[in-house]
Amino acid sequence: MSLVMNRPPMPVPAMHPIPSVPAATPAAAPVDTLAWLTELLRLAQGEHGEPQAVLQAMLDHAVAGSGGTRGCLAMADPERPGLLRVAAATGLPLVHGQEVAVGSGPLAGVLARGTPWLGTANPLLDAAGLPEPEGRVSSVCWPLVPMEACIGVVVVDRAGGERPFTAADLDFARPVATLFALVTDNWRMHEDLRERLRRLEAVNEENRAVTRRLAEAHSQLLQSEKLASIGQLAAGVAHEINNPVGYVSSNLKTLERYIGQLFAAIDGRAQPGATLPDAEELEFLRQDVNDLVAESAQGLKRVICIVSDLKNFSRVDQVEAWDDADLLACLDSTLNIVNNEVKYKAVVDRRLTPLPPVPCIASQINQVMLNLLVNAAQAIERDGRITLRSGVDEAAGEVWLEIEDNGCGIAPEHMNRLFEPFFTTKPVGQGTGLGLSLSYSIMRKHGGRLEVRSQRGVGTTFRMVLPARKALVAPAA
Ligand SMILES: Nc1ncnc2c1ncn2[C@@H]1O[C@H](COP(=O)(O)OP(=O)(O)O)[C@@H](O)[C@H]1O
Ligand SMILES: [Mg+2]
Repeated sequence: MSLVMNRPPMPVPAMHPIPSVPAATPAAAPVDTLAWLTELLRLAQGEHGEPQAVLQAMLDHAVAGSGGTRGCLAMADPERPGLLRVAAATGLPLVHGQEVAVGSGPLAGVLARGTPWLGTANPLLDAAGLPEPEGRVSSVCWPLVPMEACIGVVVVDRAGGERPFTAADLDFARPVATLFALVTDNWRMHEDLRERLRRLEAVNEENRAVTRRLAEAHSQLLQSEKLASIGQLAAGVAHEINNPVGYVSSNLKTLERYIGQLFAAIDGRAQPGATLPDAEELEFLRQDVNDLVAESAQGLKRVICIVSDLKNFSRVDQVEAWDDADLLACLDSTLNIVNNEVKYKAVVDRRLTPLPPVPCIASQINQVMLNLLVNAAQAIERDGRITLRSGVDEAAGEVWLEIEDNGCGIAPEHMNRLFEPFFTTKPVGQGTGLGLSLSYSIMRKHGGRLEVRSQRGVGTTFRMVLPARKALVAPAA
């Protein structure tokens, strides 16, 4: 299951280029005005870092340079028409972030027409319903129009008996207002980008949480299917262990009796009710003791084998140990566990060729083999055949392992439902419908796949395909 979401790349707004500081000084302009403009351009280049600080520094500079006492820069919010938000303020009872309703006064006129306004009261304070801090005021309000739309205003006041602004001042300030408009618009786009990144990050976090929950659910499913199959197999495994344990314990009893007889022979004293063994009987004891010990050792080896295979199989998934594994050894140990399911139904025909080591989580690959072997055995009524094949596809850099049965086969209408979780044709208690779905996802996780061919009444072949370690498979000729 893949959770990678295909989102179109987010459009990144192009920032306005801020004109660079002029290299040469035009002869006509007074030197202090040029120095002031040069400084304003330098500030606009963003030396102060954060856009908010850039705007504030530019406003401070503009207020001081225009002989003003105070000023303010406010921006429109496209999502909340009729409101301006203060972006920078100098010497006014307005703070960054403060919202001002445009209302129907001169401010509304500037925004609607996109032309500057000259008056005797600060239109922003007026709209905010705040009193002028001083008596007589001359105020100029510039619309900020970087393209077509007006995105805000900049207001500069002269107060306390200064010379009022004139139409000539408006003309002079026109390029300055344009510069403000460009920088302000960059700031707005920057904020917009930041907001979009924040939302994207929130979506990503949500995706990560969903992926985590799915992984947990999947691991639980894997665990419960493992428990279910162990449950189903428990009786068979117990039987497999019981058999050797049975004859080992019976052999021990016989050995105990033989040892009694041998000690009696050594001591030269017969046990009560018995005679001393003669030479022929001693020869028989010697032979049989050897046989009994060899047979018992064999039986115990088989028990040890089954227990260790069981341990491999039930290894906790959380410890996902990727390692190079010999798939044929995995197959052998899985066959040991399912032996009791298979041996009364079918003979196992091994047509296996050696495989290079394959990087995998062996306990999970064992689980896939187990599911396929149990399914094959369950498809066979009796006297069947399970054929195991293996091979290397050098051109594709893959190894494969096939489990073929000559059981009932799969109905064509079921073929594309096999890997659905909970799809089963078996009676309740026999099938969980999870075996193939989990096997499929285990193979996917390993970068491999599970293929199936089947014909009703003829049989079924499942093929596990896994990528081989590159260096181990010779390149195609
Ligand atoms: N070797 C097979 N031969 C016939 N049918 C099979 C074989 N393997 C799987 N199936 C079909 O696929 C179904 C799903 O298998 P699986 O996911 O292992 O669940 P379950 O074995 O619990 O039913 C089975 O119920 C069966 O109908
Ligand atoms: Mg099954």
